[in-house]
Amino acid sequence: MPNNSALRLVLGVESSCDETGVALVEHGDAGVPRLLSHALHSQTEMHQAYGGVVPELASRDHIRRVLPLARHVLDEAGKALDELDVVAYTRGPGLAGALLVGAGVACALGAALDRPVIGVHHLEGHLLSPFLSADPPEFPFVALLVSGGHTQLMQVDGVGRYTLLGETIDDAAGEAFDKSAKLMGLPYPGGPALARLAQAGDPKAYKLPRPLLHSGDLDFSFAGLKTAVLVQSRKLLQEAGLTQFSELPVQRQADLAASTEAAIVEVLVRKALAAVMRSGLQRLVVAGGVGANRSLRAGLDQACAKRGVRVHYPELHLCTDNGAMIALAAAMRLQGNPSLPQRHYAFDVKPRWPLS
Ligand code: KG4
Ligand code: ZN
Repeated sequence: MPNNSALRLVLGVESSCDETGVALVEHGDAGVPRLLSHALHSQTEMHQAYGGVVPELASRDHIRRVLPLARHVLDEAGKALDELDVVAYTRGPGLAGALLVGAGVACALGAALDRPVIGVHHLEGHLLSPFLSADPPEFPFVALLVSGGHTQLMQVDGVGRYTLLGETIDDAAGEAFDKSAKLMGLPYPGGPALARLAQAGDPKAYKLPRPLLHSGDLDFSFAGLKTAVLVQSRKLLQEAGLTQFSELPVQRQADLAASTEAAIVEVLVRKALAAVMRSGLQRLVVAGGVGANRSLRAGLDQACAKRGVRVHYPELHLCTDNGAMIALAAAMRLQGNPSLPQRHYAFDVKPRWPLS
């Protein structure tokens, strides 16, 4: 809860991929900012027919959703548009057209209201999102960032002070979930569907590779896993004389899903713990869509408890993309540097943008 009288109100807009998120956060000079309201529209259903995100459709849908969502969060918080102090938006990384929608709307609002506008790094939003949880972390910590496009280990010494410790050299963990799920004929986005199927399966049923587990560094590689899943699935189909994964006995399907999840989770848990041990820190923060995975949370809870490491997660509904994390990141930046925002509205977006 902000602890001073000069509270500031930040509107955050997220539109980097297939979720339109808008939120209102209030903050003082210190303390954890407070989430007043947030609203989200997921495009999952629209993209499902294509098996993945169609960028042009994503951009057009963001255009349709963003202003109604902004109106909704203002109404829900009982705030008027001219009470806003700052407008924040996701500047990158993400789909260029989708990012431009959020950037355009945020800058237009800023210009119309004569308020400063801040472009936020999407991964910084994920990274700081556990600060909105009931058990917020304290700096410094090691962060395991596991989203659809990124798998990174970071040392976080404060807002804007990020050191990359390791990252994936090919696919992200989210991609490994999504691509394996696609092979199993599960609907997009595959991660949650694969995790659901895995619940009834035996994680030890099939031996799948744990890439780079013993590499001695903090990098990841998940591209080979989907090939191993494909080979195992073909073997099962051949043995059963079938052609479709969905025709296999449900137990076999669940076993392969559970074995895939276990391979991804084991690598993430071991590398995250190795990063914490190397850093000499006692705190781990998990962020990004894959952070919603229950098996990953259980694995990390157990490994961290054994070594006396505190682990923090975002609230489940704030693991995947949302506007709250963007408003929060802007608010936390402002707390560290009140002179930061400028009133110029010539915006650009950064589809590729390293965080560190
Ligand atoms: O952070 P996010 O919403 O979007 C990006 O910034 O990329 O992450 C989306 C990723 C997708 O790969 C999705 O399948 C995965 O997070 N995901 C999950 C779960 N929920 C979302 N993966 C495994 N288990 C889940 N429960
Ligand atoms: Zn994300």
